[in-house]
Amino acid sequence: MVRKLILNNFVKIFKMAKIILITGGAGFIGSHVVRLFVNKYPEYKIINLDKLTYAGNLENLNDISGKSNYVFEKGDITDNQLVSKLFEKHKFSGIIHLAAESHVDRSISDPGAFINTNILGTVNLLNAARNLWKDDFEGKLFYHISTDEVYGSLGETGYFTEETAYDPRSPYSASKASSDHLVRAYMHTYKLPVVLTNCSNNYGANQFPEKLIPLAVNNIKNNKQIPIYGKGENIRDWLFVNDHASAIDLVYHKGTNGETYNIGGNNEWTNIDLIHKLCEIMDEKLGRKKGESAKLITFVKDRAGHDMRYAIDSSKIQNELGWKPSLQFEEGLEKTVDWYLENETWLNNILTGKYEQYYEEQYHKR
Ligand code: NAD
Ligand code: DAU
Repeated sequence: MVRKLILNNFVKIFKMAKIILITGGAGFIGSHVVRLFVNKYPEYKIINLDKLTYAGNLENLNDISGKSNYVFEKGDITDNQLVSKLFEKHKFSGIIHLAAESHVDRSISDPGAFINTNILGTVNLLNAARNLWKDDFEGKLFYHISTDEVYGSLGETGYFTEETAYDPRSPYSASKASSDHLVRAYMHTYKLPVVLTNCSNNYGANQFPEKLIPLAVNNIKNNKQIPIYGKGENIRDWLFVNDHASAIDLVYHKGTNGETYNIGGNNEWTNIDLIHKLCEIMDEKLGRKKGESAKLITFVKDRAGHDMRYAIDSSKIQNELGWKPSLQFEEGLEKTVDWYLENETWLNNILTGKYEQYYEEQYHKR
C-alpha cells in the first residue's frame, strides 16, 4: 500500500516535471521570472539562456544560483548552432522567451541590435522548438513575452485590448511587433503551441538605470538633474515587476493555446506626476526638506516619435485566469526606492565607464 502510494507520487511528479528554457533570465523581468519558477517549482528544471549584454546581470540571481533545479547557459539567441545544441542537450518542454533589446532610446540611436535579437533571435528559437518538438506538440509551449508598445499610442481616452490593431512606432516596438507576428505565424502554419502576453511598463528591483524610474532614483540620490522628455505629459501604465512575474506563471500554466493576454496595472501616470511622487518619497527616505529633490527636475528635448499614452485593458486575464495586481502604486514605488537605496553595490557595479558613456551620449546632446 505504502509502496504503491510512493510509486504513484513518483509517477505524478515525473509527469509534472518540466524542463523550461527561460531566455533573458539575467535581465530585469527575466530574473524575477527565473526566481519565481526555481523557488515555486522545485520539480522543474529551469535553464536560463542569456547573452549577458549590458542589461544582463547575474547578480540579479545570486540568491538562487546554487539551486539544483537551476542551470545558467551563457549564449546568444541569434546563434543558431548554439541554440540547436542547447535544444538537443536539454530537450526543453517549454520556453518562456524574454530575451530582447528593450530600451526605446537605444533603438532610436542604434536599431540594428533590435532587429537581430528581437526578430532574428525569436525566429531562431521558433525554428529550434519546431525542430525539437516535430509534430508531437503534446505538453509543449512556446510563451512569447511582448509589450503594449506594439499597439502604438493612445489619445486621451480608450485602452489597448487584445483586438487593438498593431501600430508600432519606434524601432523597438516594430521589432517586438515583428516577433509577435512571427510567433503567431508559426502557430497558424506549423501548429506550434504558443501563447503571448503584452504588458505595460514594469518597475521594481533590478531594473537597469536607463529606464525612467531607476534612472531618476539614481539621479535624485546623487543630486543630479532628472531629465524629463518634452513637457512630461506622456502617460504610462505602471505595473510592479513581481505582479508581471505572477501573471507569467499563471499564463504559462493556465493560458489557452494560441491566445494573447494583455497585462497592465490599471495605473496611469503622467511622467511629471510620477516623478513628483518619486521626489516626495525620496525626500522622506533621504531626510531632505520637502520639495528639495523636485528642484532637480529638468525638461529636456523630447524623445523622437515619443508615444503619448499607453493604457492596458487587462480584463481578459483578470476574468479568464483570475489574475490581478497585488500592490498599489505608491506602495510598490516605496518598495522600489528602498531596494535601490539598500542595494548600493548592485547600482555601483553598473555605473561603470560604459554607463557613463551611454549617459553622456544620451543626455548631454539634449
Ligand atoms: P532587459 O533589457 O532588462 O533584459 C533583457 C535580457 O535579455 C538581458 O539579460 C540581456 O542580457 C538578454 N539578452 C539581450 N539580447 C540577448 C541575446 N541576443 N541573446 C540572449 N540574451 C539576450 O529587459 P526587460 O525589461 O527585463 O524585458 C524583458 C522582456 O519583457 C523583453 O522581451 C521586453 O520586450 C518585455 N517587456 C518589458 C517591459 C518593461 O517594462 N521592461 C514591459 C513589457 C514587456
Ligand atoms: O510599455 C512597455 C515598455 O515600457 C517596454 O516594452 C519597454 O521595454 C520599456 O523600456 C518601457 O518603455 P518606455 O519607453 O515607456 O520606458 P522608459 O522608462 O524608457 O520611459 C518611460 C517614460 O518616461 C517615457 O514616456 C519616456 C520618459 N522618459 C524616459 C527616460 C529614460 C523621460 O522623460 N526621461 C528619461 O530620461
